[in-house]
Amino acid sequence: MNILVTAGPTYEKIDPVRFIGNYSTGKMGFAIADAFADAGHQVTLIAGPVQITTANKNIKRIDVESAQQMYETVMAIYPKMDGAVLCAAVADFTPTTVADRKIKREGDNLVIELKPTKDIAANVGKIKRKEQFLVGFALETNDEELHALEKMKRKNLDFIVLNSLKDKGACFGYDTNKITILKATGEKIEYALKPKKAVALDILNEINKL
Ligand code: C5P
Repeated sequence: MNILVTAGPTYEKIDPVRFIGNYSTGKMGFAIADAFADAGHQVTLIAGPVQITTANKNIKRIDVESAQQMYETVMAIYPKMDGAVLCAAVADFTPTTVADRKIKREGDNLVIELKPTKDIAANVGKIKRKEQFLVGFALETNDEELHALEKMKRKNLDFIVLNSLKDKGACFGYDTNKITILKATGEKIEYALKPKKAVALDILNEINKL
């Protein structure tokens, strides 16, 4: 299969030297890309700014920086894919204007106006064909399942992988994760805390059943 995976954060420029970002390291997305590639699939990995590398021959890596760049790259490539796992922590807002010079320190508060970015998953969900799969992630702090189910429906996903910031050892930066898979069919699978590589295999296993 040809699989698209997004991973890492996005950086939204404020001026030539500053950005708005988040704590995503890309570890989960890279583990998913590796799991697919090790199983013999061709992976296109679209990565935001991350410090990690991959040496797998079956992975073609495309580096992007902003949510808009990731959106354009994903939308251009997804139609040629058998499916996608959207793991990136895409910024939901981006500055309305980017200063062309470094913003100087001044006495008063600085207000940066933000506008919403495009929701990549929701837009891929709109162009998804019957034979293609689409899997997304949800990182929640409260009412986890309710929010994840709403996202799965709104973004037209086959299933959503939920991680909660309440779980110790899960999410940003850790080498482990604790997930719950919620499927469009109503099925729910809860997993134990395990290394992200093992989590990636669990996700691959569920995609193989679709
Ligand atoms: O709405 P929320 O950001 O919580 O949704 C998370 C899911 O949607 C993840 O799969 C993430 O990669 C994807 N997403 C996206 N584009 C955005 C925001 C989120 O693809 N702008």
